[in-house]
Formats: sequence, C-alpha cells, structure tokens
Amino acid sequence: MLREKFDLTGRTAFITGSARGIGRAIAAGFAEYGARVVVHGVKASLPLEESLKAVRLLSPSSFAVTGDLSDPLQVDGLFSQMAAQGVESPDILVANASQQRNCAWERFDADEARREMEINFHATLRLFQLAYPHMKAKGWGRLITVGSVQERRPHPEMVAYSASKGAQENMVRNIARQVARDGITVNNLCPGVFATDRNSAALSNPVYAEKVRDAIPVREYARAEDAAGAALLLASDAGRYITGTTLVVDGGLSLPG
Ligand SMILES: NC(=O)c1ccc[n+]([C@@H]2O[C@H](COP(=O)([O-])OP(=O)(O)OC[C@H]3O[C@@H](n4cnc5c(N)ncnc54)[C@H](OP(=O)(O)O)[C@@H]3O)[C@@H](O)[C@H]2O)c1
Repeated sequence: MLREKFDLTGRTAFITGSARGIGRAIAAGFAEYGARVVVHGVKASLPLEESLKAVRLLSPSSFAVTGDLSDPLQVDGLFSQMAAQGVESPDILVANASQQRNCAWERFDADEARREMEINFHATLRLFQLAYPHMKAKGWGRLITVGSVQERRPHPEMVAYSASKGAQENMVRNIARQVARDGITVNNLCPGVFATDRNSAALSNPVYAEKVRDAIPVREYARAEDAAGAALLLASDAGRYITGTTLVVDGGLSLPG
C-alpha cells in the first residue's frame, strides 16, 4: 500500500533548527507519521519547548537537544546529547538550521561570511559524517538538506548565504552517489519564500511584500507546513528511489521567464 510507505514508525528523525518555522513543521509532520523526533534549537527557549510539546503529543518518546552550529564542538555535542537519551544516531537527519545576513557584497564582513559557511555548510557536512556509520550499518538512512531558491537566483545582498546553500546542494549530489549502495538517500529540499520568523520584519513592509508576492507565480507566500509533505516524501520509503536531487517548494518562483 502506498500509504504505508510514508509511515515512519520505528525511525528516529533529527531536524536541526526545529524550534521554529520550516523545521518545526517538518518535525510535527514526521511525528504525525510515527517517527520519534529530536527537535533542536540554539539553546533552551520557549519556541523549542513549544515545538517539543507539539511533537510529544504525537510521538511521546521525542526529545530536544541544543547547540550552536557555528561551534564545531557543539555540533559534535548534539550526538552526545542524543546518546544520553538512548539514541546512538538518527535514521533521518534534516539539516534545516541556517543563518543569513543582508549586506552589499563589496562590504560583506569576512567573519560573518565564515560564520554563515560554518553553520550552513560545515556543520551540515559534519552532521552527515557523524550520522553516516549508523545508517550504513543499518542499510537504511535519509540525509536531507534544506536549501534555498538562492542556489539558483542569488539575492544580491546575501552573497555568503546563497554561496553556502549552493555549496550544500553540490555536496548533496556528491555524497548521494557515494552512499546510494548503502541504502541511504541524500536530497535537498529547496524552499521559496516562506512566512517564517526570519522574514517577518521584511514582509511587514507592504510595498516590499507586494513586490515579492508579485514575483511568485502562485501569488502567495508558503506556510511552514508547505515543506512538510515534501520532506516526508524524501524521508520515507515512498521516496526510496529519489536521491541526489533538489525538490523545489517555491510556488513557481524559480521558473524562468
Ligand atoms: N523562510 C524562507 O523564506 C526560506 C526561504 C528559503 C530557504 N529557507 C531555509 O529554510 C530553513 C528554515 O528556515 P526558517 O525560515 O524556518 O528559519 P527560522 O524561522 O529563522 O528558524 C531557524 C531555526 O534555525 C535555528 N538556528 C539558527 N541559527 C542557528 C545556529 N547558529 N545554530 C543552531 N541553530 C540555529 C534557530 O534556532 P533558535 O530557534 O534556537 O533560534 C531556528 O530554530 C533555513 O535553512 C533557510 O535557509 C527559508
């Protein structure tokens, strides 16, 4: 039955940056489909508590971990925190957290560029490396990045962010080929404009908001939960034959013309 192929019962899914926004919606979707979910935020916070509460209603063995992905020691510490809760390593890993800052490329601060690369690219690579041995031993695994339409249409004031997302997408295609024989798929979910916390200030300007909406063929922003179905496809057995690809969820924003 096709419906059963979406079932995540018996799987553990770790979603970075799932205290809020797209990550939270993916976490809730996976919990609804039976996964034990590990939610994550930079540090303990009310949004992280709320996210955990929501997934626990659906999947009671779920728990939270915290750590700043700009610090490699804290990245490794996430796996120690999971081990302390009895999870050696997740079956499904969604690298969703990221940072971005706007500035003209000529003045873009070098330390900020390095920081965005660290969080958006290096931490993802490290998390994939940490998760891989367990997935390989099990003969099943899902490695998923959350990219951005900026891989294809870089925003002129986000030179580091868009480059980091491009690097992540390239890494997905690289690793996907190498781990396919281990029963592991590696994919990139690519959002367009989602109405989440990171956009709320910019989109509260009605002139800017209308300009952005005008560029989206479906004429509306995405809601966080619009990413959850695509993530479930990539994370479940329903998507077992999909690897090395980018699944764009953007209402047509990146279409040419
Ligand atoms: N929203 C969009 O329009 C859009 C468009 C294209 C791509 N995306 C991508 O989609 C993903 C989710 O975006 P979103 O809009 O849902 O984000 P969001 O609402 O800003 O939430 C970001 C999440 O990432 C976590 N995070 C941020 N910096 C971190 C760090 N240094 N270490 C650990 N965790 C960190 C945050 O943790 P705390 O809650 O603890 O702060 C938060 O849970 C991102 O990769 C983003 O690039 C979003």
